[in-house]
Amino acid sequence: MKLPPGPKGIPLFGSVFEPKGDSIRYLTKCTREYGDIVFFRFLGVPACYTSRPEYIESVLVTQSNNFVKSKDYRAMRRVLGNGLLLSEGDFWRRQRKLIQPAFHQGRITAYAQIMIDYTQRMLASWSDGQALDMHEAMMRLTLGIVAKTLFDADVSHEAEGVEAALTVLMGKFLRQAGMALLLPTWVPLPTSQLLKRAVGRLDKVIYGIIEQRRASGQLSGDLLSAFLQAQDDEGVGMTDRQLHDEIMTLFLAGHETTANVLSWTWLLLGQNPETEQKLIEELERVLGGRVPTPADLPQLVYTDMVLRESMRLYPPVWVIGRRALASFRLGEYEIPADTNMLISQYLMHRDARYFPEPEKFVPDRWGAGNARTAALPRFAYFPFGGGPRVCIGAGFAMMEAVLLLATIAQKFQIQISPEEKVSMQPSVTLRPRNGIPVTLKRR
Ligand code: HEM
Repeated sequence: MKLPPGPKGIPLFGSVFEPKGDSIRYLTKCTREYGDIVFFRFLGVPACYTSRPEYIESVLVTQSNNFVKSKDYRAMRRVLGNGLLLSEGDFWRRQRKLIQPAFHQGRITAYAQIMIDYTQRMLASWSDGQALDMHEAMMRLTLGIVAKTLFDADVSHEAEGVEAALTVLMGKFLRQAGMALLLPTWVPLPTSQLLKRAVGRLDKVIYGIIEQRRASGQLSGDLLSAFLQAQDDEGVGMTDRQLHDEIMTLFLAGHETTANVLSWTWLLLGQNPETEQKLIEELERVLGGRVPTPADLPQLVYTDMVLRESMRLYPPVWVIGRRALASFRLGEYEIPADTNMLISQYLMHRDARYFPEPEKFVPDRWGAGNARTAALPRFAYFPFGGGPRVCIGAGFAMMEAVLLLATIAQKFQIQISPEEKVSMQPSVTLRPRNGIPVTLKRR
């Protein structure tokens, strides 16, 4: 039994999660030199990167019991506590079971109206010829939507307080979280007073909302009501602490990612006018100028393909990390316990073995008749992850992305200046480094 090939004796400090985005280049270089499984040590900690779909499936699905993610994501724990994204074992299993029903398709379609209303409110504030940062606009919109779906309309003033504190927190937090993704736990993380204050402020607001809801006993159609009613097999519900951690998790996991998909999609549409034209034709044919509803989703086939292709090129979660509890096998290799497994959606999605001309934006790849795409191995394309830890919000996110894209694109053309150089910032999520500057043109 042997270790996979990889670089030896190379000073690797800083090379995998470089703030400049060189991590992607570094992993690409490793694959080119060593093949689709590469083993290396990072500050003494064993790490293994694989770009082979069946190995990815092995880590995320078949052998998933042998993996945890808690250690790698410790910077996030400061903010998200023991919420669904970070918890492990029986605790995670119980929470997932309690929360899952709130994300069933039937439940989430109830949130479509909030999505449409918020988008229309934003459009009413836009004017022809206006210049704005589309990434910032999408972040504000998706944050407003997730806040509203968590806490119903009549507590919207509290949701606004949460939005303000959360916006302050995001910048600091993401930088730290990206940095801590691979560092061994003995390397101390910098403490930031600003981050601490923002976390403290948010905690106060969220605990306040929970206390008020418990006291009033008022239940509505929002996610918090669903969580307050949820009980496990023994009839036990969530503590305030658990509710807090799940709310914080959904706030963060539930808006930045969707905002990123939309931001990258506007960029790609701006750069590919023929695709944009095809999209507009579908919207005219299916909607004829009216706002979409969930009932339109099965007809908005091309809109869905555009988003899929956008997530292929710019997956909002570009890398997944797992730590092995015990040594394990991948094909002919034996990988030691404590190894950090790295899996990258970004690199897999641009792998020419599975996607011909991978750098090109071609939504038609996802057409029903495309035999090549139909034959893709399961983990050649996985923007929402896979296995038991698959994204709980995938249905919510796709519905939101389609509804927002369709509503906005019918009213405005989003123009990108050809000189605009947009670059990626691969932290925990893949966001545009300096936003997406655009000019709005009313249709
Ligand atoms: C396009 C948008 C989104 C993308 C690409 C995305 C992607 C992902 C991925 C890749 C994971 C798995 C991470 C891992 O295995 O380590 C994940 C987990 C998760 N996502 Fe999403 N997500 C999106 C939107 C959302 C939304 C809208 C919500 C909630 C409203 C959400 C909530 C979560 C939660 C709670 C988890 C942890 C699930 C668990 O471990 O049980 N996500 N997401």
